[in-house]
Amino acid sequence: MARLVTEWVNVTTDISIIARESGEVWFHTPGGTKEKADPFATPMTGAGAPDSTVGLLDGAIKLGFCGIEKRLARPDPTVVGYIVALVGAYHTSVDTPRNLRRAANRFNELGRPEVAVYLEERAREETGHDRLALKDLRALGVPGERLVAKFIPEGIKPLCKRFDDLCAEDYPIGCIGYSYCLERIAALKQEDDIAKVRSICPDGVDATRFLRSHSSLGSEASHVAETIEFVASLPANDRIKVVRETYESSLLLAEGYNHELLKSEVEMLEELRAAMGEPLPYCYGLGSSHGDERHAPAE
Ligand SMILES: [Fe+2]
Ligand SMILES: [Fe+2]
Repeated sequence: MARLVTEWVNVTTDISIIARESGEVWFHTPGGTKEKADPFATPMTGAGAPDSTVGLLDGAIKLGFCGIEKRLARPDPTVVGYIVALVGAYHTSVDTPRNLRRAANRFNELGRPEVAVYLEERAREETGHDRLALKDLRALGVPGERLVAKFIPEGIKPLCKRFDDLCAEDYPIGCIGYSYCLERIAALKQEDDIAKVRSICPDGVDATRFLRSHSSLGSEASHVAETIEFVASLPANDRIKVVRETYESSLLLAEGYNHELLKSEVEMLEELRAAMGEPLPYCYGLGSSHGDERHAPAE
């Protein structure tokens, strides 16, 4: 009987993630004694398998988030918060196809056409997602193009920069780890989460195009599954780099999202007003968490 695959990656100076094809995943502090050498002290060199690779990737995300677990903001959704989230969604998707194609070209130059083909396919699949966010903003009565041109939420900036930088590297394999992190988190969203957002939007308004597509109901779930398969097929060195970047990106994502979620509605409204030079066209004012409580358009 073939032995089950075990994969491991050292992600910080004192933590390695170990994942078995059986589904077991654990965090390990590198060490060892004179009598017993640490079997995970040297980087893995063997082949991957989807069931162990996913353990490494999801373990990296879990590790990234556990640092802020205790101060994780979990506010009730509001329209104003959702508008800010849509602006963030626009910025994290508008340059994705261009960036992925840039990384794909580099892999072609490096003689790695299989990576290039994977990235080009991803670039095609991600094309137009920024438009979904703009349509949602417009559905909410917000001039999307004008707002996104002037406003990028503070917590989202480091993420956008990270992806730009990763795709421009000489060996841009880390961009796969970044994308996995964002897509995996998005794919956690369920029908309930979408229903909650629908319930805060004005009656008859469909502003959940981006959210639906970036949830367990949309293409995100299949993107995640395809990425796991692809990463598992990569050589060990590449898998190590992808998992490390998944961890680094999850740190940025956790901090960035939390930074935005911790803002009060007054702060968010003020940021939007400052960016547009005027209040929101429809006054999604404080406490207007239900469509039937919304105020009339602002003068
Ligand atoms: Fe997308
Ligand atoms: Fe996606």
